[in-house]
Amino acid sequence: MKTQVAIIGAGPAGLLLGHALRAENIDCVVIEKASADYVLGRIRAGVLEETTTDLLRQLGLSARLDKEGIREEGFAFADGERLVRIDILALTGKHTTVYGQTEITRDLMDAAAGRGLEIFYEAAEVALHDVAGDAPFVTFTRDGREQRIDCRFIAGCDGFHGVSRQSIPARADRIFERVYPFGWLGILADVPPCHDDIVYASHPRGFALASKRSPTRSRYYIDVALDERLEDWSDDRLWDELSIRLGPDLAANITTGPALEKSIAPLRSFVFETMRHGSLFLAGDAAHIVPPTGAKGLNLAVSDVIYLARALTGYFNRHDNDGLASYAEIALARVWKASRFSASLTRLLHQFPEDTAFDRRMRKAEMDFIASNTAAQKAIAENYVGLPL
Ligand code: APR
Ligand code: PHB
Repeated sequence: MKTQVAIIGAGPAGLLLGHALRAENIDCVVIEKASADYVLGRIRAGVLEETTTDLLRQLGLSARLDKEGIREEGFAFADGERLVRIDILALTGKHTTVYGQTEITRDLMDAAAGRGLEIFYEAAEVALHDVAGDAPFVTFTRDGREQRIDCRFIAGCDGFHGVSRQSIPARADRIFERVYPFGWLGILADVPPCHDDIVYASHPRGFALASKRSPTRSRYYIDVALDERLEDWSDDRLWDELSIRLGPDLAANITTGPALEKSIAPLRSFVFETMRHGSLFLAGDAAHIVPPTGAKGLNLAVSDVIYLARALTGYFNRHDNDGLASYAEIALARVWKASRFSASLTRLLHQFPEDTAFDRRMRKAEMDFIASNTAAQKAIAENYVGLPL
């Protein structure tokens, strides 16, 4: 089989890139290791920047997002004593939208066949070949048969644990990583949210986040040490801990209910600076990971896709190589800024095992400054709604 672009991975990055290329009449196929059901079973983040919702609208893929997405005009910090609201609409003129990543993935999957986007699910032993040259190919096994796809370019959209990044000779000085000493324990439940805004709380017992998916579905998180086991967190224990960390005012408004999903995700900052190697381009989690504080992960995957789709469209439809030549540099500039924002919010809101009393006072002073200073709030709001492309 032959195509112009072989896309590895059917997460949001791979599917969106596929749709963006099909909209420009560029041939592509998506090769995914897991089954469609498995991909749809993953619960991930859910706060979308306008960059992300604009792209979905432009591609005509926003019917359900426009109906079910919740417009967010602010968010709040809580530190036990007060709620500091960041009025993102007033500070930036922009808003964010709550709509689960799982729902985006479902919408993109459902629209694929109608737009000539072929997705091969359950592809085993996916391997990339000759990526340094200009005639790369991908092999994989499906239904017991070996398949080969020849293409001009490969887009590695296969997430942090994918095979694409491993196909690039690693240079240690271009890999940047921080592994945090905690993870987020998340619970999804069919109960109304406890507050209008998403609330990021910092409490002496640890971090907590009150988020939502709809007026009747909530998503909450607390941070836990990396050696904590999910089995030790009954729903009741988790609701009790959330109530303590979110503080009495929010706790009074919490409706508890059985978990639809509960999982622990470790926090990591990671940037692989080689986003291009010959004919292979990385996008999304394949190239970078941010901690979820600030909800940048999915939105960064989308900005990569916007840059890469533009560059590939330039190449195929206008014989213009410039976009591909500058892709890595342009994408990484936005990645590093979002990495900085996510890392600094993580630092502000979490306690680290090595923290001293001085570190705790620094965090309190920073929250005091944010609470009283509009310029500080504006800087946070601009990062939260998403920096310009
Ligand atoms: N071959 C083919 N597909 C693979 C392979 C492989 N060797 N390895 C992984 N995959 C698939 C995964 O099963 C997954 O469906 O690639 C997909 C990658 O999707 P995501 O991990 O969702 O990554 P991405 O599309 O970059 O999405 C951005 O933003 O909010 C964050 O982490 C969150 O997933 C989110 C990400
Ligand atoms: C979520 O709703 O899952 C969510 C919200 C905000 C974040 C991270 C995750 O910063």
